[in-house]
Amino acid sequence: MTSSPAADRGTLLIINGPNLNLLGTREPEIYGTATLSDVEQLATAAAKVAGFGTTCLQSNHEGALVDAIHAARGRSVGIIINAGAYTHTSVALRDAIAGVELPTVEVHISNVHQREEFRHHSYLSPVCTAVIVGAGIHGYELAVSVLDKSLAQTQA
Ligand code: DQA
Repeated sequence: MTSSPAADRGTLLIINGPNLNLLGTREPEIYGTATLSDVEQLATAAAKVAGFGTTCLQSNHEGALVDAIHAARGRSVGIIINAGAYTHTSVALRDAIAGVELPTVEVHISNVHQREEFRHHSYLSPVCTAVIVGAGIHGYELAVSVLDKSLAQTQA
Protein backbone atom coordinates (compact mmCIF):
# COMPACT_ATOMS: atom_id res chain seq x y z
CA MET A 1 0.00 0.00 0.00
CA THR A 2 1.28 3.48 -0.87
CA SER A 3 -0.17 6.79 0.18
CA SER A 4 0.27 10.31 -1.06
CA PRO A 5 -0.33 13.12 1.42
CA ALA A 6 -3.91 13.98 2.31
CA ALA A 7 -5.03 17.01 0.38
CA ASP A 8 -7.75 19.62 0.81
CA ARG A 9 -10.49 17.51 -0.69
CA GLY A 10 -9.61 14.25 1.10
CA THR A 11 -8.23 10.92 -0.07
CA LEU A 12 -9.22 8.63 -2.93
CA LEU A 13 -8.72 4.88 -2.41
CA ILE A 14 -7.36 3.27 -5.57
CA ILE A 15 -7.81 -0.50 -5.53
CA ASN A 16 -6.39 -3.00 -8.00
CA GLY A 17 -7.37 -6.63 -7.70
CA PRO A 18 -5.92 -9.99 -8.71
CA ASN A 19 -3.17 -10.25 -11.31
CA LEU A 20 -2.94 -6.49 -11.80
CA ASN A 21 0.42 -6.63 -10.00
CA LEU A 22 1.61 -8.29 -13.22
CA LEU A 23 0.76 -5.26 -15.40
CA GLY A 24 3.59 -4.50 -17.79
CA THR A 25 4.36 -8.15 -18.50
CA ARG A 26 0.88 -9.73 -18.39
CA GLU A 27 -0.73 -10.16 -21.82
CA PRO A 28 0.66 -6.82 -23.08
CA GLU A 29 -1.40 -7.09 -26.29
CA ILE A 30 -4.50 -6.71 -24.06
CA TYR A 31 -3.31 -4.63 -21.11
CA GLY A 32 -0.38 -2.67 -22.60
CA THR A 33 3.10 -2.29 -21.17
CA ALA A 34 2.54 0.16 -18.31
CA THR A 35 3.24 -1.28 -14.87
CA LEU A 36 1.03 -1.11 -11.78
CA SER A 37 3.38 1.52 -10.42
CA ASP A 38 2.85 3.60 -13.60
CA VAL A 39 -0.94 3.28 -13.12
CA GLU A 40 -0.76 4.34 -9.48
CA GLN A 41 1.49 7.30 -10.32
CA LEU A 42 -0.83 8.41 -13.13
CA ALA A 43 -3.92 8.25 -10.92
CA THR A 44 -2.13 9.94 -8.02
CA ALA A 45 -0.95 12.78 -10.27
CA ALA A 46 -4.48 13.31 -11.62
CA ALA A 47 -5.87 13.20 -8.08
CA LYS A 48 -3.31 15.75 -6.88
CA VAL A 49 -4.28 18.20 -9.63
CA ALA A 50 -7.92 17.86 -8.53
CA GLY A 51 -6.99 18.40 -4.87
CA PHE A 52 -7.09 14.80 -3.58
CA GLY A 53 -4.49 12.58 -1.92
CA THR A 54 -4.49 8.85 -2.70
CA THR A 55 -4.11 5.51 -0.99
CA CYS A 56 -3.17 2.81 -3.51
CA LEU A 57 -3.65 -0.88 -2.77
CA GLN A 58 -3.28 -4.04 -4.82
CA SER A 59 -4.19 -7.50 -3.58
CA ASN A 60 -4.79 -10.91 -5.09
CA HIS A 61 -7.07 -11.82 -2.15
CA GLU A 62 -10.78 -11.15 -2.17
CA GLY A 63 -11.06 -10.70 1.61
CA ALA A 64 -8.23 -8.16 1.64
CA LEU A 65 -10.11 -6.14 -0.97
CA VAL A 66 -13.31 -6.32 1.12
CA ASP A 67 -11.34 -5.18 4.20
CA ALA A 68 -9.82 -2.25 2.27
CA ILE A 69 -13.26 -1.09 1.12
CA HIS A 70 -14.59 -1.26 4.70
CA ALA A 71 -11.56 0.66 5.99
CA ALA A 72 -12.23 3.43 3.45
CA ARG A 73 -15.29 4.52 5.37
CA GLY A 74 -14.29 7.64 7.30
CA ARG A 75 -10.83 7.71 5.68
CA SER A 76 -11.51 8.17 1.98
CA VAL A 77 -14.01 10.29 0.09
CA GLY A 78 -14.24 8.02 -2.96
CA ILE A 79 -13.01 4.75 -4.43
CA ILE A 80 -11.60 3.75 -7.82
CA ILE A 81 -11.60 -0.02 -8.26
CA ASN A 82 -10.35 -2.39 -10.91
CA ALA A 83 -11.36 -5.68 -9.28
CA GLY A 84 -9.89 -7.78 -12.10
CA ALA A 85 -11.54 -11.18 -12.37
CA TYR A 86 -13.42 -10.69 -9.07
CA THR A 87 -15.59 -8.24 -11.02
CA HIS A 88 -17.25 -11.20 -12.65
CA THR A 89 -17.58 -13.41 -9.56
CA SER A 90 -17.74 -11.46 -6.31
CA VAL A 91 -21.01 -10.71 -4.54
CA ALA A 92 -18.85 -9.93 -1.46
CA LEU A 93 -17.14 -7.00 -3.22
CA ARG A 94 -20.45 -5.72 -4.50
CA ASP A 95 -21.92 -5.82 -0.97
CA ALA A 96 -18.85 -4.07 0.46
CA ILE A 97 -19.14 -1.23 -2.08
CA ALA A 98 -22.87 -0.90 -1.42
CA GLY A 99 -22.25 -1.04 2.33
CA VAL A 100 -19.78 1.83 2.65
CA GLU A 101 -21.84 4.23 0.54
CA LEU A 102 -18.85 6.02 -0.98
CA PRO A 103 -18.91 7.17 -4.61
CA THR A 104 -17.09 4.40 -6.47
CA VAL A 105 -15.89 4.18 -10.06
CA GLU A 106 -15.28 0.77 -11.65
CA VAL A 107 -12.40 0.68 -14.16
CA HIS A 108 -11.29 -1.95 -16.67
CA ILE A 109 -8.23 -1.37 -18.79
CA SER A 110 -9.49 -3.61 -21.60
CA ASN A 111 -12.88 -3.40 -23.28
CA VAL A 112 -14.40 -6.37 -21.47
CA HIS A 113 -17.40 -6.30 -23.84
CA GLN A 114 -15.17 -7.19 -26.80
CA ARG A 115 -13.83 -10.20 -24.92
CA GLU A 116 -15.15 -13.55 -23.63
CA GLU A 117 -18.81 -13.74 -22.63
CA PHE A 118 -17.95 -14.36 -18.96
CA ARG A 119 -16.33 -10.89 -18.78
CA HIS A 120 -19.52 -9.13 -19.93
CA HIS A 121 -21.24 -9.32 -16.56
CA SER A 122 -20.09 -7.27 -13.58
CA TYR A 123 -21.46 -7.75 -10.08
CA LEU A 124 -20.06 -4.31 -9.21
CA SER A 125 -21.53 -2.06 -11.91
CA PRO A 126 -25.02 -1.73 -10.37
CA VAL A 127 -23.56 -0.28 -7.14
CA CYS A 128 -20.95 1.97 -8.79
CA THR A 129 -21.32 5.63 -9.73
CA ALA A 130 -19.73 5.06 -13.15
CA VAL A 131 -17.99 2.35 -15.16
CA ILE A 132 -15.05 3.00 -17.48
CA VAL A 133 -13.95 0.20 -19.81
CA GLY A 134 -11.52 -0.02 -22.69
CA ALA A 135 -9.76 3.32 -22.23
CA GLY A 136 -6.49 1.64 -21.24
CA ILE A 137 -4.76 3.05 -18.19
CA HIS A 138 -6.20 6.47 -19.08
CA GLY A 139 -9.37 5.02 -17.53
CA TYR A 140 -7.92 5.67 -14.07
CA GLU A 141 -7.51 9.39 -14.89
CA LEU A 142 -11.07 9.46 -16.23
CA ALA A 143 -12.22 7.87 -12.97
CA VAL A 144 -10.52 10.64 -10.98
CA SER A 145 -12.32 13.16 -13.16
CA VAL A 146 -15.70 11.49 -12.49
CA LEU A 147 -15.08 11.61 -8.72
CA ASP A 148 -13.80 15.19 -8.98
CA LYS A 149 -17.09 16.29 -10.55
CA SER A 150 -19.43 14.19 -8.42
CA LEU A 151 -17.71 15.12 -5.14
CA ALA A 152 -17.70 18.79 -6.12
CA GLN A 153 -21.47 18.70 -5.64
CA THR A 154 -21.26 17.34 -2.07
CA GLN A 155 -18.12 19.29 -1.10
CA ALA A 156 -19.42 22.66 -2.33
C1 DQA B 1 -9.68 -6.36 -16.23
C2 DQA B 1 -10.68 -7.22 -17.02
C3 DQA B 1 -10.99 -8.50 -16.25
O1 DQA B 1 -11.89 -9.30 -17.01
C4 DQA B 1 -9.73 -9.30 -16.01
O2 DQA B 1 -10.01 -10.46 -15.26
C5 DQA B 1 -8.65 -8.49 -15.39
C6 DQA B 1 -8.43 -7.12 -15.85
C7 DQA B 1 -9.26 -5.11 -17.03
O3 DQA B 1 -8.70 -4.20 -16.42
O4 DQA B 1 -9.45 -5.05 -18.26
O5 DQA B 1 -7.90 -8.97 -14.56
O6 DQA B 1 -10.33 -5.90 -15.05
